[in-house]
Amino acid sequence: MILSTAASQSFGTALAAALEADYGLVEYEQFPDGERLVRIEADLAGKRAVVVGATPTAESHVDLLLLQDAAREAGADSIVTVIPYMGYARQDSQFADGEPISARAVARAISTGTDRVVVVNPHEQAVCDFFDVPATAVDAAHRLATPLPDTLEAPLFLAPDEGAVGLAERVCDAYGEGAVDYFEKVRHGGDEVEITTGETAVDGRDVVVVDDIIATGTTMSKSIEALNDLGAGRVFVTCVHPLFARNARSKLADAGVDGIYATDTIERTVSTVSAAPAVADALD
Ligand code: R5P
Repeated sequence: MILSTAASQSFGTALAAALEADYGLVEYEQFPDGERLVRIEADLAGKRAVVVGATPTAESHVDLLLLQDAAREAGADSIVTVIPYMGYARQDSQFADGEPISARAVARAISTGTDRVVVVNPHEQAVCDFFDVPATAVDAAHRLATPLPDTLEAPLFLAPDEGAVGLAERVCDAYGEGAVDYFEKVRHGGDEVEITTGETAVDGRDVVVVDDIIATGTTMSKSIEALNDLGAGRVFVTCVHPLFARNARSKLADAGVDGIYATDTIERTVSTVSAAPAVADALD
């Protein structure tokens, strides 16, 4: 039986459909002091519970822990935890004295309530090692080809930095035609990113910029501006995790984007394709 937190209802229902499994109704409540509560209606005695919960916020993280516990209390025989987007995963080492390894801290907490973990496109695969139970990463990048216009002109799939080249290649493969290239990126601070375009030839081509996460939107907006300056045709952006912090959406519009496509690992208006079928393949 599939159960989801409030943050992952679309993903949970899509996963149930892909697995042809039951989707259990969960009630989500909040006390006047802000504390959270979840309630499972179904009897899970002897069943495998697949608990789905993205953790882009502290609240959604608490919801996931509560739902794992409720599933165990409802008699689940085993619990698989699916994390469509794992918050804190980018804080995967101690960046300064006195700081925690935040990814490890949240992974340990999640491990206490589950027998197995599946994480969709963590920024670094090594984050799976922080869990105290078997944990695997699922790649949903190929799903990003589905909502792209089928009229792309000489498409170029562009990674905004070298680290995202593999993602761009997988989207290109799934689209079925096109070339892959990348920019160089140096981040000088949370909101300050320098993009170097190099030899990339984009004149008149439609470009799809591919990244794992859009957070502040700085990486993508700088890339869009650079591509428009270079004379690209249409410029689309796509990502697995549409975090869209602060004014990210507006920054992309201001930079002149022609379309934004993302999965439902974080449920936003740009989540036009589900990553759930990729997870279903890993769970079968
Ligand atoms: C970093 O290496 C990631 O792949 C993304 O490029 C980054 O998280 C995007 O962040 P932002 O939208 O804040 O530029």
